[in-house]
Amino acid sequence: HDVLYVTSEMYPFSKTGGLGDVMGALPPCVHYKGVNAAVITPFYGRMNLAGHKLRLVYSDLHVGYPWPSTTAEIYQTDYDGMPVYFVARGEYFDRRHYYNTHNGDYFDNCERFIFFCKAVLKWARLLPSPPAVIHSHDWQSSLVPPYLYFERAKDSFWKNTKTVSTIHNLAFQGRFSERLFHESGLPAEAWSMQGAEFYGDFNMLKSSIAYSDAVTAVSPTYAQEILGPEFGCGLEGFLKLHKDKIEGILNGADYNVWDPSEDKFLPCRYTAEDISGKQKCKRSMLREFNISDQFADKPVFGFIGRLRDQKGVDLLIDIIPKLMKKDIGLIVLGEGNLAYEAQLLDLMEAYAGKMSVRVGYTENLAHSIQAGSDIFLMPSRYEPCGLTQIYALRFGTPPVATAVGGLRDTITPFPDEAATGFTFAEPDSDLFFEAIESAIAAWHDRKEWKKMVKRAMLKEFTWDHSADEYIKLYRKLGARI
Ligand code: ADP
Ligand code: GLC
Repeated sequence: HDVLYVTSEMYPFSKTGGLGDVMGALPPCVHYKGVNAAVITPFYGRMNLAGHKLRLVYSDLHVGYPWPSTTAEIYQTDYDGMPVYFVARGEYFDRRHYYNTHNGDYFDNCERFIFFCKAVLKWARLLPSPPAVIHSHDWQSSLVPPYLYFERAKDSFWKNTKTVSTIHNLAFQGRFSERLFHESGLPAEAWSMQGAEFYGDFNMLKSSIAYSDAVTAVSPTYAQEILGPEFGCGLEGFLKLHKDKIEGILNGADYNVWDPSEDKFLPCRYTAEDISGKQKCKRSMLREFNISDQFADKPVFGFIGRLRDQKGVDLLIDIIPKLMKKDIGLIVLGEGNLAYEAQLLDLMEAYAGKMSVRVGYTENLAHSIQAGSDIFLMPSRYEPCGLTQIYALRFGTPPVATAVGGLRDTITPFPDEAATGFTFAEPDSDLFFEAIESAIAAWHDRKEWKKMVKRAMLKEFTWDHSADEYIKLYRKLGARI
């Protein structure tokens, strides 16, 4: 394999958010361009394997962690003509959830992903030739670059393998106690301010920044933002030290999955040229969510996302009573923080017929809301890239979003004549409300609104372009691909 992608999520097999979408699209796209790509990911019990045949590659891969005799099974399947490998060990990955339950993170997350990273390298060491690049993502796979860095000094097999690590969300660093650093098997010299140590703790993501050949963030704006205290999550100083090897590469959208002209989840399809189907999708969504039919001719807002502080759900909750005084509908799909879930469900009761909330994670409803809403809400406090707003553009659902991170890089804000959406400067509920008001006013100017919808739908954030950027980076590092 030229490039081996290491990830804790890959759509359609596993997904909790955008990371899954990215890993289901970037590797096949790179592969399609003639660079041999492969993905390795955990074998979760709750995985979607529909239509995929698995082959057992190793029944007893020796991992040697946490016990000297611990082994893993490795399975393989094909996805889009590209090999995907799964690391299986039931006690770690055969669970109801991926990383956490409502009661918090799994207590052994550090051990689970030390195990995963070690298994990846043990398996890769048995390949006939080493990958030219190993590309890891977020904290769960972030021990791969440091392990490889120290192996490279001892084992010539790895001498030409380069490492890239991508930050999808700096707020999740995989921070654990010092004891787990010692368990990880990294050498003592990695326990330093330049390495894996962070205020006396073991910081897995920091170790990958320290020891990767290159680091990327998922949008150019976020790559800048994380160098400052507001978005740096305590790592800004450290990231600044390494800033020469950091760059921002904007995510793309997988338009094979997210495009209303061929979306298999929708009751009917539409295009930028003939958008009439969107109105039918709207009616069917209103029915599905028990919203009164009279809103078919009123602006209806949609929100889809993890119900976490990052997504600014509290800003939305704050303004719902004010918003409900207006002649509009609102649909919310999400799960996460229990308090937010409860508050939203209470609001739904108070505004039945006008506002609807679905708590849960349902792929097909995400598609219905993208297509059926008029305006998409995304008041994020920070947003490394954000994919839902990119999908919303393609579905002709102009977003109202905070001007941060990838939202800035993907939305041209009203009143620009090329506007595709609305942004507001700070995560503040009054500013959010004002931006919504200007979106409602714009919606009522039907002729201009149609133009904005069309501009949004014609925007292209293809993987084709972003995959080229990654390939350029691999080559810049000297990878022979
Ligand atoms: P993040 O990765 O921060 O959650 P992104 O916008 O990058 O945000 O990606 C979110 C992905 O997860 C999108 O594909 C979105 O449709 C999906 N998603 C989020 N919440 C839900 C939900 N409750 N049900 C279905 N899909 C969801
Ligand atoms: C993270 C970020 C999101 C980004 C996604 C994929 O989950 O929160 O902004 O789009 O990763 O890179």
